[in-house]
Amino acid sequence: MTQGERRGPGRRTMIGAAVLGSAALTATAAAGAAQARTGGHGHGPRLPVPAVIAHRGASGHRPEHTLGAYQLALDLGADVIEQDLVPTRDGHLVCRHENDITGTTDVADHPEFASRRTTKTVDGTAYTGWFTEDFTLAELRTLRAKERIPAVRQENTLYDGRWAVPTFEEVLRWADREGRRRGRPVWLHVETKHPSYFRKLGLGLEEPLAALLRRHGRHRADAPVFLQSFEPGSIRRLARLVAAPRVVLLSDAKSRPWDFTEAGDPRTVADLITPAGLKEIARYAQGIGPTLDLVIPRGADGRLGRPTTLVRDAHAAGLVLHPYTLRNENSFLPADFRRGTDPNAYGDAFGAYRAYFATGIDGIFTDQPDTGLLAAADHRAAQG
Ligand code: G3P
Ligand code: CA
Repeated sequence: MTQGERRGPGRRTMIGAAVLGSAALTATAAAGAAQARTGGHGHGPRLPVPAVIAHRGASGHRPEHTLGAYQLALDLGADVIEQDLVPTRDGHLVCRHENDITGTTDVADHPEFASRRTTKTVDGTAYTGWFTEDFTLAELRTLRAKERIPAVRQENTLYDGRWAVPTFEEVLRWADREGRRRGRPVWLHVETKHPSYFRKLGLGLEEPLAALLRRHGRHRADAPVFLQSFEPGSIRRLARLVAAPRVVLLSDAKSRPWDFTEAGDPRTVADLITPAGLKEIARYAQGIGPTLDLVIPRGADGRLGRPTTLVRDAHAAGLVLHPYTLRNENSFLPADFRRGTDPNAYGDAFGAYRAYFATGIDGIFTDQPDTGLLAAADHRAAQG
């Protein structure tokens, strides 16, 4: 197999990482909440609530994690643009969802790299393909990016081969440039991928990430950036290196963060999303990025059930919520919002946004930020 997807009140203005609106704050959460509210962001740039985060760029319209996908997201008006980071053999951070680049580049068409195809176990799962950590940056830059899911997003294949794999440094330079041109900062949402795996290879992600953030002035608590990881240990390490706001990603309730698995820590996501677990997260992070299903579970029929208490509990702990990922295509939407029988056709994404925004989330990851922005504007208008 190749490495694929992780299965995965009122108008408010968010100052930086968070304005918690009417969220009730407990005394014990007050310090964390204050940090989340101001977090050094009190005098920093503003984000709307709910913020629309372009997942891997405007990945519903362009091959993901390309400068084309990031530029389109920005041009569409996305509030925040996401990068996933993995390293090259010589330690450069590049933007890919996986270190296995088989599905998102033309590496298989390069005979000079045929011998690099191999099988590796990443976070307990075996994958066969080509991996970024086996390529120098110079070698990786000879490849071209392509659409991950061409059967679903045929139109995006028009852009196959148009862009290279971007380095994170290149993205920072682009964001600086666009920020100056527009007169307001370009917000980024940056994820460390498989941090324990890479550290064992001598390719720790957090130190080079912190160095780049520092070089581009994005290391402070009021910087227009969120740092995210599915491994709480990576977020804790980043907290020691930079003050920029941090978000702990949460997969399904039964799953266990990989660094917990490696450390023999039996806790699962279900433990992390208890009020006590959230208070613990608030000691080193300003937000959580849960799956949408942790916010509103889906029943066996794929339809939305009743919202959980996660939004209330996270806000009470002083944490913002940036759930992932809403996509317009029927196959990704809750059954309530599918239209017709074509899994690749768009369903009623606006209906889905209404349901999720009604829970009080602070932002949302989406592959189609243009749809998300209209939905967010509808939500704010409805709230008066
Ligand atoms: O980082 C938020 C969301 O992107 C998490 O899922 O697997 O797409 O990185 P993934
Ligand atoms: Ca991500």
